[in-house]
Amino acid sequence: MTLVFGLLLLSGLCAVLALLLEAANTVFADYGPCRITINEGAKEFTVKGGGRLLSTLMDQGVFIPSACGGRGSCGLCKVTVLEGGGPILPTETPYMNDEELRRGTRLSCQVRLRGDVRLEIPEAFFLIKEFRTQVVGLKPLTPFIKEVHLKLIEPQEIVFKPGQFIQFQVPEYEGSSEPVYRAYSIASPASLNTEIKLVVTRVERGIATTYIHDILKVGEGVIINGPYGDFYLRRSDRPMVMIGTGSGLAPLMSILYQMAEEPIDRPCTLYFGVRSQQDLFYQDEIHGLMRALPRFRYVPVLSEPSLENHWDGETGLVTDAVARDVTDGSQLEAYLCGNPLMINAAVKLLTAKGVTEDRIFFDKFG
Ligand SMILES: Cc1cc2nc3c(=O)[nH]c(=O)nc-3n(C[C@H](O)[C@H](O)[C@H](O)COP(=O)(O)OP(=O)(O)OC[C@H]3O[C@@H](n4cnc5c(N)ncnc54)[C@H](O)[C@@H]3O)c2cc1C
Ligand code: FES
Repeated sequence: MTLVFGLLLLSGLCAVLALLLEAANTVFADYGPCRITINEGAKEFTVKGGGRLLSTLMDQGVFIPSACGGRGSCGLCKVTVLEGGGPILPTETPYMNDEELRRGTRLSCQVRLRGDVRLEIPEAFFLIKEFRTQVVGLKPLTPFIKEVHLKLIEPQEIVFKPGQFIQFQVPEYEGSSEPVYRAYSIASPASLNTEIKLVVTRVERGIATTYIHDILKVGEGVIINGPYGDFYLRRSDRPMVMIGTGSGLAPLMSILYQMAEEPIDRPCTLYFGVRSQQDLFYQDEIHGLMRALPRFRYVPVLSEPSLENHWDGETGLVTDAVARDVTDGSQLEAYLCGNPLMINAAVKLLTAKGVTEDRIFFDKFG
């Protein structure tokens, strides 16, 4: 007991010390001007040292994919550092394979600028933009989920693949002493390229979701950047299974709109898992998609159906319903989105049913 208490105390002290060091580093250290050279001079600039590479690049209009707001937990913000950047940190290595370690791949949110750096990034990153937008609608979809409708002001159009996400800038407010970024998938069709809709689940004491649910108002401006991500529809004739939980329905809706518009007539079953009847949303839209896509099947699955409202549909975990339905997955392609626990369980289930891993695509919201 004493040993456990001692260890807890020690790790608490270490965390406080690390925070103090980080704060002192930010406030007092002066690294002077630093030169950043990207792709052998395709872009070059001199910036004030001391900041994180990810945010410094963003200030210069170069956007590196990121889904965790720079907290070192998504592993997306990889760049190749050819020179400078200091030694790789223990927070980075879990996200790197041997080849990446050999090439000098780094998580740009973990690299502090203490001198000149030479970088290599995919050319495609230069296409990622920052957008000024205005809130034109805020609609509760369920007691915990809100739809945020943004009109693009500058630039006025966004080009994205259905399934991709943007980063939403939460400005400084009483819940956050600095602006933070969070990832939200685009729920609207890509053909509607002057506006986007996001579907945001409230997270208790969450910085972004408290701001979006309780503070953001229609008419206000919002800065976003993107698009990001490789969760999008692959071109094939394979039958598809889609599994979404809660706001994980968002990118699947965008993909389904794309299928209805082109049209892409593939057998497709959407399993949508929520707790009870009141958590189901976009039901009219889904029924519209069923009319447009003859081979599209919809299976809502409730884990705790309320007794007041009669329910004769599927019950249990969404993966239970998939397990009951899918016998041979060898021809299937799968698109999964939502909470990480569901996705881990779904990947395990689908691979056991014969879906090969290279045909399972997912976005984990966490
Ligand atoms: C690629 C991608 C796409 C995403 N798309 C969407 C989307 O379309 N809609 C959407 O609502 N969210 C989406 N998310 C999640 C979103 O980016 C935020 O993580 C989420 O909204 C919480 O942000 P926050 O600032 O409110 O919470 P934070 O302040 O970051 O977290 C507060 C606390 O809650 C915990 N927490 C964070 N997220 C959750 C969660 N989902 N459930 C339970 N606890 C949590 C944290 O660990 C922390 O302890 C996506 C995430 C990724 C990676
Ligand atoms: S931004 Fe998520 S790990 Fe760097």
